[in-house]
Amino acid sequence: MSLSVQERVSLKAHNSFAVEVSAREFAEAHNDEQVREALAYASGKGLPLLLLGGGSNLLLTADVEALVLRMVSRGIRVLHDDGEQVLVESEAGEPWHPFVQWTLQRGLVGLENLSLIPGTVGAAPMQNIGAYGVELKDVFAGLTALDRQTGELREFTLSDCAFAYRDSLFKREPGRWVILRVRFALSRTAPLHLDYGPVRQRLSEQGVDVPTAVDVSRAICAVRSEKLPDPAVLGNAGSFFKNPLVSAELAQRLGREYPGLVAYPQADGRVKLAAGWLIERAGWKGFREGDAGVHRLQALVLVNYGQATGLQLLALAQRIQADIVQRFSLELEIEPNVL
Ligand code: EPU
Repeated sequence: MSLSVQERVSLKAHNSFAVEVSAREFAEAHNDEQVREALAYASGKGLPLLLLGGGSNLLLTADVEALVLRMVSRGIRVLHDDGEQVLVESEAGEPWHPFVQWTLQRGLVGLENLSLIPGTVGAAPMQNIGAYGVELKDVFAGLTALDRQTGELREFTLSDCAFAYRDSLFKREPGRWVILRVRFALSRTAPLHLDYGPVRQRLSEQGVDVPTAVDVSRAICAVRSEKLPDPAVLGNAGSFFKNPLVSAELAQRLGREYPGLVAYPQADGRVKLAAGWLIERAGWKGFREGDAGVHRLQALVLVNYGQATGLQLLALAQRIQADIVQRFSLELEIEPNVL
């Protein structure tokens, strides 16, 4: 077996909350073969297997009594290029932001709005990552996954993945699929998405009138760095809650009661509310208890100031959820996977 398995390994460096828990066993998969070896090894030992990408969408509340398998497969390739449309494939273990930069350096348009998102390429489809008006599904061209139930490879098209806001088939069938490679439909000429929030304003502040994809990426990196804590400095998992979708009636009632409510009407008649605004309005922004806190610049982000445990962070999240139900009659759904 080429897979190297270690026992009782700290996961602190492998989860962006930097929570100190250990894995009963730990290994890294560089290729498909090692993924298969890990599955066989875990089932031989009667151990569950937990897959890990960058660990940036995860809250660990206890030691993991499993084989934790970190995907570190590397490789990016152009599968097709007709001069305008370009199909790019990346192995699951590639870190996301360097992958985005790889595409931008080659003049490819499509991933610029998703700059600086932590995590890996293989984890991106799980929750259909999104930012600044673009979601993964908008540039998604397919993926290859291993079915843990049958051991077979399967190709997924866009519609197979059932992508929705921070959701996918893979999130709904946890533990079934190992995403091995993801393909992206990029372009040399596609229009840029500049209409979300502060993007256009940031570009004009930077003196850019006719932006390129690289300019947009730079602007988004600047906006993100200002508002969102760098997990290398302050443990966090990005947005801890999803923005809730509510009925038009509730949104109207809340809008009357709370002037300034941030609300985005959806095509289906429902309204998406900015959870960060609600949490700030409820007074939680900057709150800290022990080492668990709510980021002082973005109320949707929970942070670990050092020694917070997963359970302390979860308890804080639950207090916020209860308070939001009481004040606004709506439920906030936790975004990261809680284990
Ligand atoms: N807001 C507040 N107070 C706060 C935070 C936000 O009033 O503390 C208001 C802002 O002023 C703005 C609105 O809420 O009017 C939306 O805020 P922002 O643009 O920061 O985005 P978000 O809705 O809080 C979502 C994603 C982020 C993504 C940004 C930009 C979710 C759960 N989060 O956040 O994704 O980067 O939009 O597109 O949809 C992530 O998923 O981890 C993540 C960071």
